[in-house]
Amino acid sequence: MSARGKFITFEGIDGAGKSTQIAAVRAFLEERGIEVVLTREPGGTPLAEKIRGMLLHEGMGATAETLLFFAARADHIERVIAPALCRGAWVLSDRFTDATYAYQVGGKGYPGACVEAIERIVQGELQPDHTVLFDIEPEEAARRLASAREPDRFESEGVRFFTNVRNAYLERARRSAGRFFIVSTMQPPEGVRQELLKEVGSWL
Ligand code: TYD
Repeated sequence: MSARGKFITFEGIDGAGKSTQIAAVRAFLEERGIEVVLTREPGGTPLAEKIRGMLLHEGMGATAETLLFFAARADHIERVIAPALCRGAWVLSDRFTDATYAYQVGGKGYPGACVEAIERIVQGELQPDHTVLFDIEPEEAARRLASAREPDRFESEGVRFFTNVRNAYLERARRSAGRFFIVSTMQPPEGVRQELLKEVGSWL
């Protein structure tokens, strides 16, 4: 029987430049013979992808929003994350529960105690082994997003919102320093890649 795989999550405000770097981590691990499951939140299963569509494009209150993120997450854990970890694969998830604390609690003011309660119901003991936080100044992230694509419901929030989201991420990283690796994406992508892969190498 293989050992449990590692659960790695990637976080940061919109426009921080996660996607290309996550692909580099995947390639790095696969070159070393590790089975990698690359997934994302909200999403990762057919049901969770449907919920993603609602979350990104329909207006709703903070309670409905938070519960939908966790409904999608429950399905994602049950069908994808837990089975993959059990068979020894490494799971790389583009966002997970830290995003709920950063966006819904830090950004929108939803009570953190409520998120903690729902988190316990949905996740039990499951927590990421490592979390990479891509850190960027909100003004720079906004510049990068503006030239990239049409914004969804979250991306169209202002710099003030993203400053709160960023600060919530940084505060969580400070409180769980052992789990978090913070990398600044204010530098060129090649520098980010080198710092990141050095850190990932230390997890093997
Ligand atoms: P993301 O997949 O990063 O968007 P994209 O593929 O467009 O880069 O995430 C979608 C949005 O959902 C993003 O703005 C962050 C938000 N989000 C929350 O507000 N709470 C959460 O718990 C999660 C997982 C995401």
